[in-house]
Amino acid sequence: MNKETLILAIETSCDETSVSVIKDGNTILSNIVLSQIESHKRFGGVVPEVASRHHVEGITTTIDEALISANKTMHDIDAIAVTQGPGLIGALLIGINAAKALAFAYDKPLIPVHHIAGHIYANHLEEPLTFPLIALIVSGGHTELVYMKSHMHFEVIGETRDDAVGEAYDKVARTIDLPYPGGPQIDKLAQQGQDTYDFPRVWLEKDSYDFSFSGLKSAVINKLHNLRQKNETIVKENVATSFQNSVVDVLSTKAMNACKAYNVNRLIVAGGVASNKGLRQRLQHLCEANNIHLSIPSPKLCTDNAAMIGAAAYYYYQAGVTAHLDLNGENNMDIEEATIDA
Ligand code: KG4
Ligand code: ZN
Repeated sequence: MNKETLILAIETSCDETSVSVIKDGNTILSNIVLSQIESHKRFGGVVPEVASRHHVEGITTTIDEALISANKTMHDIDAIAVTQGPGLIGALLIGINAAKALAFAYDKPLIPVHHIAGHIYANHLEEPLTFPLIALIVSGGHTELVYMKSHMHFEVIGETRDDAVGEAYDKVARTIDLPYPGGPQIDKLAQQGQDTYDFPRVWLEKDSYDFSFSGLKSAVINKLHNLRQKNETIVKENVATSFQNSVVDVLSTKAMNACKAYNVNRLIVAGGVASNKGLRQRLQHLCEANNIHLSIPSPKLCTDNAAMIGAAAYYYYQAGVTAHLDLNGENNMDIEEATIDA
């Protein structure tokens, strides 16, 4: 029997310090996530310098905790994986330097992982990926439709031309005085309201899989401004429902159109916004009606975590893709760059 492959993965691209030990790319032995949300809340968003400082403070204890909780030592580990980008450069560098130090000190291979590839592979931790598939990526920094013909093969077929969907959620939340991060708050309120504000759906050109959320965001802000000027009551629940309906209509319609056009019967969803209840319900309904197998990770694997980085890293490890100790962080990286050429 082949020996199991153990990867220690590190993720520090934004505001979670996370370390995980993953067996054979699909089994979580530990997944420690140290969230900084409470620190950033008072600023209404992530402050890069504050994020870097928290990563520095938390990284070594998080590594220790991940090993202890997996009941492993560094000698059991086969490779060290780390998020190379995209993300906040100062935050990424904390994880990358910790990973390099471990790789050097214990003489282990270093595996650089694309953050969005990680989000996609979060699905693989709960149910093996099957191909071809369409991945709908919806996070704080990204909104993309990706076609995958096989493991680690990413073809972007559509992407946002302006704001990412999570960013639009957070900005709209701020305009109705909800705390950061606004996405989950809007989602909660949206369950209690009605679609009364008639916000636009931005479809772009016929057959385009691109997205645009800045017009919707401006429409919400303008509407609220007008209501405030006229001293009319703003029903936050209805704003949330109307906004969420517009977002969910566009995301789910384009994802279903992509599945049909590419003749794919597997849809996966990835990224922080994948935990959105409205989106999950709508996609479940549409996929059932169209015979498409849908996978969405459990909410704790939708937001940033190192387990997903370890899951993606396994395929790089198998393909022998490793980095030298001069690895640098990349704040901007295209998901197509993460493709492993067969
Ligand atoms: O993937 P993620 O944890 O970080 C990035 O890589 O960007 O995504 C964070 C984003 C935030 O914008 C947050 O507001 C949003 O995901 N989010 C949600 C929900 N939960 C998190 N947006 C809508 N509904 C939710 N339930
Ligand atoms: Zn993320």
